[in-house]
Amino acid sequence: MAKFVKVAARADIPVGGKKLVEIDGVAVAVFNVNGSFYAIEDVCTHDGGNLVEGDLLGNEIECPRHGARFDVRSGAATKMPAFAPLPTYAVKVEQDNVLVETLD
Ligand code: FES
Repeated sequence: MAKFVKVAARADIPVGGKKLVEIDGVAVAVFNVNGSFYAIEDVCTHDGGNLVEGDLLGNEIECPRHGARFDVRSGAATKMPAFAPLPTYAVKVEQDNVLVETLD
């Protein structure tokens, strides 16, 4: 069964917000899209850009380096120059805490 780790208080990531966290040594970006939380690896599949530094446009994050976009809900690449999807991680909210699936 998947284990989860607390990464933030719910209030730390308001609607439209994002936060960089580290889970088992991996940089993970956590997003709040209309009150639902999603987590993806924070490494653009085009050339390693830090996605959390880009703009969250609805349910898509735009890479600040060359403008690729990814759907934060599925990890799918939705705009060139990226083609490969990103790993996603399960997120749940318990009381006022945001928890992300650990990788081991
Ligand atoms: S590194 Fe993200 S679009 Fe190039």
